[in-house]
Amino acid sequence: MEKYVINGGKPLYGEIDVSGAKNAAVAIIPAALMVNGVCRLENIPQISDADMLMTILEHLGAKIRMVNRNTVEIDCTDVRYTDAPYDLMRRIRASYYLIGAMLGRFGAAKTTMPGGCNFGVRPIDQHIKGMTALGADVEVTGGFVYAKALDGKLHGTRIYLDKVSVGATMNIILAASMARGRTVIENAAKEPHIVDLANFLNSMGAEIMGAGTDVIKIRGVERLHGAVYSVIPDQIEAGTFMIAAAATKGDVLVTNVIPKHLEPITSKMRKIGVNIEEFDDSVRVWVDGPLVRTNVKTMPHPGFPTDMQPQIAVTLALAEGTSIVTESIFENRFKYADELSRMGACIKVEGNSAIIDGVKKLTGARVSAPDLRAGAALVIAGLAADGITVVDDIVYIQRGYENFEEKLRSLGAEIEKVSSEKEIQKFRLRVG
Ligand code: EPZ
Repeated sequence: MEKYVINGGKPLYGEIDVSGAKNAAVAIIPAALMVNGVCRLENIPQISDADMLMTILEHLGAKIRMVNRNTVEIDCTDVRYTDAPYDLMRRIRASYYLIGAMLGRFGAAKTTMPGGCNFGVRPIDQHIKGMTALGADVEVTGGFVYAKALDGKLHGTRIYLDKVSVGATMNIILAASMARGRTVIENAAKEPHIVDLANFLNSMGAEIMGAGTDVIKIRGVERLHGAVYSVIPDQIEAGTFMIAAAATKGDVLVTNVIPKHLEPITSKMRKIGVNIEEFDDSVRVWVDGPLVRTNVKTMPHPGFPTDMQPQIAVTLALAEGTSIVTESIFENRFKYADELSRMGACIKVEGNSAIIDGVKKLTGARVSAPDLRAGAALVIAGLAADGITVVDDIVYIQRGYENFEEKLRSLGAEIEKVSSEKEIQKFRLRVG
């Protein structure tokens, strides 16, 4: 299994380019399934979740042509509603978007219960509520989700989401975009990637209004046509590099961003004493004084994103004073706390909050990534810590960050991806 080995204690300096948004790409790739034709997708991040989805589409009969590392042409002319491989589908959470896409185009869908990072129970009842309201019969049995439009085609309806859910909002948008009649989604999630999916579908001839607000209106269309579309920059990757600059007390220009998408992150980081200067499509992040405590509560957009919770916790572990981080979206997203404690952090988890007493410094240790964003946070901790850190199980990190270690190395980080203890020894000897 591959690992990162890091020689920490060096501030990060320089300029880093953000890739396309993972959580937009993993909905936009399945959306291409709805077209009896070709879609050209640009700024697709080269991450394993995106690769997995394209492999699943190929199993369903799609023809995939990689134009370059971040541009792909997907031809779904010959896609028939057939069974995608169970073992691939169950590994990623975003496989549930195939339900909405296949129901929309074919009036039927068969997928598996989704996988994804383990932060406790992650039900799909709101997805099922939405598909049922649109006129599908949905059955979950044997690890599979079977859905079928009762009269062959979905019909528009009004759906109130009991819980603000990114996945359910996007899945219902997919299915409703080719249903008969109008659909209104109330209490919808408002993340930037939801707007990106709606913009992509509208470029294919869909009629979706209000994405980015909590009421989304969709007028179903008979068919969608191919389109060329570029995915928005990744808000969470940008935030991760911003935090890396702050935690290592460096000075970094993060480019190819949409500053408006970063507002919840920027305002919280300024509160702890990080300097952030915003330009049209970049932000400069630097620290020239002590970091100070604050409290953070994760909320649906435009609140502080849950996908930035482990990263901000690492910065607070190095800030003066006691901070409280409250996770209001997922059941248990503090699995990194014990790992961070190995590095000298003073963090205690009580229910859905972590109480963090800032320490002067962290020291390198051997830690394991429990999930995607916690893994990235532990790498940041290693970059800030004195000495050598080894992060195991980096397969999680590779699901959501393109060229993570190369990008960090370009900012002066001493980090390498290795796969053996021998290579770790060599790294230790080399850095001395
Ligand atoms: C998406 O997950 C993202 N994943 C997550 O990003 C992100 O953390 C999350 O949205 C919140 O922003 C993808 O887009 C592939 P939710 P999703 O539905 O759709 C509950 C990352 O790090 N819920 O918004 O699963 C759910 O349990 C990943 O990039 C129901 O109760 O999140 C959670 O408590 C991690 N019933 C809350 O709603 C449902 O039917 C929000 O979940 C659906 C969700």
